[in-house]
Amino acid sequence: MTAVPVQRGLEDVVALESKICFIDGKQGRLIYEGYDIRELAERSTFEEVAYLLWYGRLPTEAQLEELTERLRQLRAVPEGVIETLHDLPTGTTPMDALRTAVSALASFEPEEGRPGATSIGGAQRLVAVLPAIISEFDRRRRGRSALPERPDLSHAANVLYLLTGREGSEMDVRAMDVALILHADHELNASTFAARVTASTLSDLYSAITSAIGALKGPLHGGANERVMELLRAIQTVDRVEPVVQEKLARHERIMGFGHRVYKVEDPRATILRTWSRRIGEEKGDLRWYDLLQKLCEVVHREKGLYPNVDLFSGSVYSLLGIPDDLFTPLFAVSRVSGWTAHVLEEYADLRLIRPTARYTGPTDLPYVPLDRRA
Ligand code: CMC
Repeated sequence: MTAVPVQRGLEDVVALESKICFIDGKQGRLIYEGYDIRELAERSTFEEVAYLLWYGRLPTEAQLEELTERLRQLRAVPEGVIETLHDLPTGTTPMDALRTAVSALASFEPEEGRPGATSIGGAQRLVAVLPAIISEFDRRRRGRSALPERPDLSHAANVLYLLTGREGSEMDVRAMDVALILHADHELNASTFAARVTASTLSDLYSAITSAIGALKGPLHGGANERVMELLRAIQTVDRVEPVVQEKLARHERIMGFGHRVYKVEDPRATILRTWSRRIGEEKGDLRWYDLLQKLCEVVHREKGLYPNVDLFSGSVYSLLGIPDDLFTPLFAVSRVSGWTAHVLEEYADLRLIRPTARYTGPTDLPYVPLDRRA
């Protein structure tokens, strides 16, 4: 019997067809529904991009207004979910809280998350409510009361307000909008795949998004940006970049924020966020993180030939916007939930149970030993 080769980590395996997102790993291009991410980051808003991912086309003015209004109406967290968040033990991480809250949301709003090609209401609800869930949890753990709703704010402005407790400058809001656009989708990354696997069993939208949040949490995926900030805080000064990187590499440790399964050149999202890291640093008169990151890029590329990915520069931007480090990955989810839900809807529309096989490497003919005779 010839053994079928095993593609560890499903590397280079084309598992399904999708119209949502295209990555050109050699050229360093990222396309959402036909549009280059660079143009979307320059000219659009997160609401437009969410519409694009869900409906496959950019909205007209009227459609955008309708969606923006709908998202505003769907922001409130149900009382039952707030109580669930408050019951979590001290020390629960924000990602664990977010995963639990989304799972609980299914019990409080079952009609929104039913499987089927028309669950767009559930997608909108999740995009609208995630920032408020994170804010509720974060403020409560700091002994602060929930913030009053601000229906006058755009999605990005509202995210910034909910996570920092204050309205940002125009530039802060634009930086947040760009970060949300850049993180909105990324083809079959681990969390999107997890969402699609769950949806492919005809499970509901909220279960699929709960799976995705669990996958995003890991440091090899969404958790990397928080680790980048940890590293920067440990390094402190530009002259320490070189020895710290050398030490880490000598211990065969990974440098977070570098490398990518698909990109063989610089991640285009990193290129855009690099600019924003400098811009926001200049606006705040604090280029400390930007300078460290630039040096880090130089050393890691020289030593390992690796390029930065999206997670390298995002933390420095968020930090300067006043967002706590352990909310970086939840913030990734706040954006990516637009892409996750678009993929789940696409899965429902052309459903095929995702169920690969494994090559068995264990024995097959062991004699059964009764319990009382086992050593
Ligand atoms: N630091 C040091 N060495 C690295 C790194 C890194 N960040 N990334 C890859 N390598 C080395 C790795 O050790 C291996 O070397 P060798 O062949 O000598 O053992 C080689 O490069 C290939 O690595 P790999 O793990 O086979 O490559 P992959 O395609 O599975 O890795 C990755 C992709 C993102 C898991 C990896 O680059 C990594 O661990 N990066 C750090 C974590 C990170 O920044 N994650 C965010 C990814 S982008 C956003 C997202 O998906 O959420």
